[in-house]
Amino acid sequence: MRVLVVGGAGYIGSVVVARLLQEGHEVAVLDDLSTGHRDAVPEGAEFFEASIHHPKVLHRSLEGVEAVLHFGARSQVGESTRVPEVYWQNNLGDTLNLLAAMRERGIGRLVFSSTAAVYGEPQRLPIDEQHPTSPTSPYGNTKLAADLMIRDECSAHQLAAVSLRYFNVAGAALQRGERHQPETHLIPLLLEVALGKRGALTVYGTDYPTADGTCIRDYIHVDDLATAHLLALDATAGVGGRHLVYNLGNGRGFSVLEVVAAARQVTEAPIEVVFGPRRPGDPAVLVASSGLAQRELGWVPLRPSLEEMIQDALQFRRRLASG
Ligand SMILES: NC(=O)c1ccc[n+]([C@@H]2O[C@H](COP(=O)([O-])OP(=O)(O)OC[C@H]3O[C@@H](n4cnc5c(N)ncnc54)[C@H](O)[C@@H]3O)[C@@H](O)[C@H]2O)c1
Repeated sequence: MRVLVVGGAGYIGSVVVARLLQEGHEVAVLDDLSTGHRDAVPEGAEFFEASIHHPKVLHRSLEGVEAVLHFGARSQVGESTRVPEVYWQNNLGDTLNLLAAMRERGIGRLVFSSTAAVYGEPQRLPIDEQHPTSPTSPYGNTKLAADLMIRDECSAHQLAAVSLRYFNVAGAALQRGERHQPETHLIPLLLEVALGKRGALTVYGTDYPTADGTCIRDYIHVDDLATAHLLALDATAGVGGRHLVYNLGNGRGFSVLEVVAAARQVTEAPIEVVFGPRRPGDPAVLVASSGLAQRELGWVPLRPSLEEMIQDALQFRRRLASG
């Protein structure tokens, strides 16, 4: 089947493109390289360098396509509070463009990258799909709005869609890994310190109601996440009109200081840490219940080890540094 991956030059999208090619799919990638990297797009995928905003290229990239996987978004919580208009345009407006173009072409299958950020401060743990949604940032607001828009598109126009709400994604797979600029994610930041590319890691907030006072997050290996996308794609076959929503995490939380300790152990580097105030909008604990994805999609996370995620990310960084 020919599929379009929007955002296939980014971290998660590029791993999923590589897995789709391995599975024998024909893959087109549409990416404006705003945060992605041309060299992350696997050979064998047809590449269109443009934003979804660009109607002509969007339509060309959709030729012959049966399903779309949509990763294209701005995804930095802090930045979204400074320039919310950029987030609404990119994450909601451009997704609206994509849905319109798919409708025009009769493309009825979509897998969408949603996020745990739609839930906001948890009222109970672990967080399942029934948990109330109350985002604490413009980023989370735009993703929740996109989910709701997709739900309405499904019921009105027979689209079959799956929104996957990822918790914290980590690790590397198939020679592809995380390199955001600027980097805001904990594990790549720790590796930058370990590899001497950054002075110290700032831990934001030490007075959260957790055992060591730092935030707790649920980490999922990018390879397990890619598997969930392949299963979600299968789940869109022959079910027009349905919007499915699944949380994806490992159901186990690690505090920032636990991740620091694991990174020190894996890298054998001291990794200097400094402590700063809380960042606005950071919930104390985010841990997923992924039972529904396991039951309905048959998803089984095979790489839940935090150390393995850090090790894989480290290998990717080292390979990148050595060219
Ligand atoms: N990384 C995480 O931990 C995480 C967690 C939850 C949700 N997500 C979501 O997963 C998706 C992928 O995240 P990522 O970490 O791989 O980010 P990323 O920034 O590495 O990838 C996003 C890609 O989309 C492209 N893009 C952005 N807007 C576009 C547009 N309008 N048209 C075409 N291309 C566009 C970028 O150039 C980039 O290559 C995002 O939607 C993000 O919100 C990520």
